[in-house]
This record gives sequence, C-alpha cells and structure tokens, in this order.
Amino acid sequence: MTILITAGPTREAIDPVRFLTNRSSGKMGYAIADAAAEAGHRVILISGPTQIDVPHRVDYIPVESTQEMFEAVQHWIKKADVAIFAAAVADYRPAAVPDQKIKKTGDTMTLELVRNPDILGSARKEFGFHGALIGFAAETENLEDNARGKLQRKGCDLVIANDVARQDIGFDSNDNEILLVYPEHTEPLEKHSKEHLGQIILEKSMALAPHD
Ligand code: PMT
Repeated sequence: MTILITAGPTREAIDPVRFLTNRSSGKMGYAIADAAAEAGHRVILISGPTQIDVPHRVDYIPVESTQEMFEAVQHWIKKADVAIFAAAVADYRPAAVPDQKIKKTGDTMTLELVRNPDILGSARKEFGFHGALIGFAAETENLEDNARGKLQRKGCDLVIANDVARQDIGFDSNDNEILLVYPEHTEPLEKHSKEHLGQIILEKSMALAPHD
C-alpha cells in the first residue's frame, strides 16, 4: 500500500526574516511514517520544517508554507491508498509579504491575514481522493464534539482527536493520549509514547483502506 502522511508545522512568511508558525514538532506524524515504513509500505512524507531525522525508506517531500503543502498533497495523493494528515497547518497567512525586512515605525503594528486553503478539506472534492482519509484535530475544549465536526465537514473516515491544552501530551511532547473518532463511535486510547500510538494509528488506518 502507498501511504501519504503530512507532518510538522507550516511556516507563513511575514517578511524575508520572520514567519508565523505553531508548536508542532512533527513527532506524531514521523512516528506514523516510521511505523508504516517498518511494515513495508511505501510512505510519502510531506513535512513542514522539523528537527527530526527523516525516517529510513520514506519518500520525503519537504515544504514550508501551507500553499506548498497543498500543492505537494494535490500532486502525491493520486498515488496513495491511505492519507493521514498529522500536520499542524496554519489556517491564515499574511496578506502581503514585502521583499524587504519590515522596519519599526509606530508603537503598534497590525498584520492583515487571509485564509489558507484547507488541505484535508480539499482531499475528497477537489483532489478526488477515494482512499482511506484520516484527519487529526488539535483542540483545547470540547475535544470529541469538535473532532466529530471536522470528521463530517472534511469527509474523513477517522479523526484522531488531540487535547493540546495539556502540557504532558499533544504538541512537542514524547507522549500522546488520543480519541479515535469514527462516524458511528469513539474509541479512547490511553497515554503512550508517540511511537506506540503511531503503530496503532497505522493499524487502524490500514483497516479502513479500500480492498480490491
Ligand atoms: O507534531 P507534534 O509535536 O507531535 O504535535 C502534533 C499533534 C500531536 C498535536 C498532532 O497529533 C495533531 O493534532 N496534529 C494536527 C494539528 C492541527 O493542526 O489540527 P487542526 O484541528 O488545526 O486541523 C484539523 C485537520 O485539518 C488536521 O488533520 C490538519 O492537518 C488539517 N488541516 C488544517 C488546516 C488546513 N488549512 N489544512 C489542513 O489540512
């Protein structure tokens, strides 16, 4: 099987020396990529900037911005049986990016932001993807309800819900504790290392893959 995985943060340029980003380390997405490569699948890992070594035997596609990740996913998803979107993607980007570094002027500064494309939300209708579609949800409240809303709106078969209000799990920690939110039910998974959960997420995702 061919498995496409997005991982890590995106970066949205403000000017040539500054950017907007988030706290994703890439650990969760890379753990899934590792598990998938170990299991002998072809892995296409589309990743924002991280400090992690690229797992062996994966096709690695580095990107920076949401637009770059969008274009890479649009290209590579045609080859995938399963697509897992673990990246923490910036929903907005600066409306204009000057060629030169922005200089200090007044005491306050206003940055105008515009919406980025929703990559996961484009998979079904815009990219025509018919394989197993697994999204993530990073939430600080109403974890299950918010994840279920994303499952329905984005056409997913499964959404992995992450509580990112806690310091011991979620962004940049070595452990995670998640809810597997399916269309008809929810399955909680206890706190474990991201490596261990990566293997379980892979198995659950493969079970949703279409069979010939
Ligand atoms: O990288 P780590 O430090 O390990 O931390 C990542 C994590 C453990 C928190 C990870 O598991 C996680 O939750 N990643 C997704 C974070 C996120 O951005 O979720 P969201 O609720 O904002 O987005 C919902 C889904 O839509 C995600 O699958 C996201 O990849 C996707 N999305 C969001 C916005 C957008 N413009 N395009 C997208 O494809």
